[in-house]
Amino acid sequence: MRINKYIAQAGIASRRKADELIANGNVKINGAVMKEPGYDVQDGDKVEVNGKLLSGLKKMEYVLINKPLGMVTTVDDDKDRLTVMECVKDIDARLFPVGRLDYNTSGALIMTNDGDLAYRITHPKHEVYKTYRARVAGVLSNEKVAKLRKGVDIGGFVTSRAKVNVIKGNAHSTIVEISIHEGKNRQVRKMFAAVGNPVQELERIAIGEIRLGHLKEGHYRKLTREEVEYLRNC
Ligand code: URA
Repeated sequence: MRINKYIAQAGIASRRKADELIANGNVKINGAVMKEPGYDVQDGDKVEVNGKLLSGLKKMEYVLINKPLGMVTTVDDDKDRLTVMECVKDIDARLFPVGRLDYNTSGALIMTNDGDLAYRITHPKHEVYKTYRARVAGVLSNEKVAKLRKGVDIGGFVTSRAKVNVIKGNAHSTIVEISIHEGKNRQVRKMFAAVGNPVQELERIAIGEIRLGHLKEGHYRKLTREEVEYLRNC
C-alpha cells in the first residue's frame, strides 16, 4: 500500500497531509527517513511518523451522532465543557468530529477515524450541502428569502447560493430550512442576522443526503456502507 494511504488509514492525517509529512522528513521506514511519496509499504515495514510507530491497519468507523446543545465539537476542551466524545464513549476507536457545530447548535455530526474522508467532507471544493432547520425571530419576508438564496454579506464575505425553504411562521418567529455548502464560523446565524431575523434555535438535519431522521439527542448510529460510499464520492 502506498505510504500516504497507509498513514491516512492509521488515522494520523489525511493523505494530503501525509504527503506533507513525508516531504518534510517526518516519516521513517525501518529507522531511516523516507521522502519518496510513491513508496509502497511492505509487510513487516516499521513506519514511524514524528517518532511514533504506527501499528498497522485499523478498522475504520463511521458514525452519525445527534449532538445535543451544550457540547463542544472537539476531542477535549480546555475549559472542561462536555465534548461530543461523550456520545461515542462505548466505541473502541479514536474517533474525531468531522467539522464543527456551535455549542448552541444541535443535530447531525459525523465522527470517524478516517482522516481522508474527513478531509473530503470538509473541503469546500467538494460542496457537500449541509441542511439546517432554524427558528428565527420575526417574519421572514419573500424578499429576505430571496436575499438569503442569492447570498448575503456576513462581514467581509458574501455567501454563495443557498436553498431556503420556509416551513411555517407567525408574527413572532419563523421555522425555516436552509442548505449551504460553505462552512464559515457561525455562518447560518450570521446569514439570518444579516437580514434582521436572528436565530433562536438551530439544528442540523442533514449532511448531504445523510439525514438525522429520528436519531435521539446524544445517541449515534453507524453509517451504512452506502452512506460511506456516498461520502467518498460526493
Ligand atoms: N452555522 C451556524 O451558525 N452554526 C452552526 O453550528 C453551524 C452552521
